[in-house]
Amino acid sequence: MKQRTPIIAGNWKMNNTAKEGVALVNAVKPLVADAKCKVVVCVPAIDIPAVAEALKGSNIALGAQNVHFAEKGAYTGEISAAMLKEYGVKYVIIGHSERRQYFGETDETVNKRTLAALGAGLVPIVCIGETLEEREGGKTENVLDRQIETGLKGIDDISKIVIAYEPVWAIGTGKTATCEQANETIGYIRKKCAEVFCPKCAEKVRIQYGGSMNAGNCKQLMAMPEIDGGLIGGASLKAVDFATIVCYDQGGIQGMKLPKELL
Ligand code: 13P
Repeated sequence: MKQRTPIIAGNWKMNNTAKEGVALVNAVKPLVADAKCKVVVCVPAIDIPAVAEALKGSNIALGAQNVHFAEKGAYTGEISAAMLKEYGVKYVIIGHSERRQYFGETDETVNKRTLAALGAGLVPIVCIGETLEEREGGKTENVLDRQIETGLKGIDDISKIVIAYEPVWAIGTGKTATCEQANETIGYIRKKCAEVFCPKCAEKVRIQYGGSMNAGNCKQLMAMPEIDGGLIGGASLKAVDFATIVCYDQGGIQGMKLPKELL
């Protein structure tokens, strides 16, 4: 039994039109109906209305992939917390490495978005993690320190957020961190949170692992004491794979009757 309730979240990234997204969640819903962990799908903004409707009455919570820090105003192309909340969005990914790499997201903007999301009653899933160059240069802890100190600055109760540790070199590469690497680094993040925030909150905060987590390696990763869940990219786009990860502690989805289009 895990100390903290695990949270498995799919990050669809820029995949699935609204129609495709609805078909995917309709396939996932019955497969994860008895899940013991918290299940979330973080979908493209334009899919939110249709997917929200399809998720009604299910045990899958809805998440977004970004949120702006201002309440409203002249920010062309951006989406506010109130817009997300109107559709029942509960979670929002903030500071994904792809946003940092391609869209100029910094620890400062991550911080502003995180505080705004919390203020609006959304649960931020804040992504942190080092690049390959940083790991090989022995800078992993420095990078995480900076991302925590600046990105999470001013949060009074850190246990209200979810942290996703996503080593950049493991994202979409098929190169998963070893269970020991992921466990050790997440343990370091928790220790740092205890120092910067409070030890009790650090004990409670859920820290996911993300980066090539799949149906084959989820059980071993989830067996590690520090790992409280996963942020799943590629494998969240396939109903059977995502459901297998969600049901990692129930023997996967073996024995379940799958609709023939999923076989
Ligand atoms: P992959 O699972 O495709 O490696 O992506 C991980 C990720 O970036 C989730 O946010």
